[in-house]
Amino acid sequence: MKPTSPIGIFDSGIGGLSVLAHLRRELPNEDLVYVADSGFAPYGQRSADQIRARSETIASFLQAHEAKTIVVACNTATAVAATALRRAMDIPVIGVEPGLKPAANRTRSGVIGILATHGTLNSEKYSHLVNRYGREVEVISQICNGLADLVEQGLTDSDEARGLLAQYLEPIRQRGADTIALGCTHYPFLIPEIKRITGEATDIIDTGSAVARETRRRLEPNCLHPDPGREGRTHFFASGSVEEAAKRIALYWPEPVRVRPLP
Ligand code: DGL
Repeated sequence: MKPTSPIGIFDSGIGGLSVLAHLRRELPNEDLVYVADSGFAPYGQRSADQIRARSETIASFLQAHEAKTIVVACNTATAVAATALRRAMDIPVIGVEPGLKPAANRTRSGVIGILATHGTLNSEKYSHLVNRYGREVEVISQICNGLADLVEQGLTDSDEARGLLAQYLEPIRQRGADTIALGCTHYPFLIPEIKRITGEATDIIDTGSAVARETRRRLEPNCLHPDPGREGRTHFFASGSVEEAAKRIALYWPEPVRVRPLP
């Protein structure tokens, strides 16, 4: 492994681009290899075994690409597969979790809302998180079926998205939550619509930037950063139709992309 080896990132589809954007800013000299597992999206309602199997396949692909670290840019995959991946791999595996801790620290009303998939909110990992950081606050955990799909289709600014968000945010608003943590990497793309419903004063927590800082920290002890003058490149792979994946990625990524098929 060399300092110029890439960082591997994956998600069920394009949600992880919300994390990739923070990684690109935080680590401008690094090569990033992003895998959208679009052929198997969404993960949210798949079984834990299916998600673990997909995560292992993608992690092996990234390791074969000499990845020096892997960022699981998916809360659902982190919840059910990160422990197994860490056991199986000899490189750091960094996951994303709903920001329950920062939400519990920041709330003034003492009520926080967590938006995530069925897979994340029903995982053992999430129960531990609630037991650990949710003791002093009221936690409203809301499964958001269908939202990630709408983001995949580019329908963030649509009546369907507004309708689902209004429904999912209602119990959270009713209880007086002033802080909402986004427990799915697709949801940061919905922040403008969420704020339109909750009002600007609601604190929305997206853990993407914390994940990027953590990735930088994890590379430092091993001196695995490339030269500061180097310009990092971003590569994209996808399962399923690469043409479709390229169209979807283009909706949320500011540069032209070429997407290669995941073998
Ligand atoms: N982006 C994923 C997450 O963070 C999941 C979306 C899905 O595939 O259901 O949980």
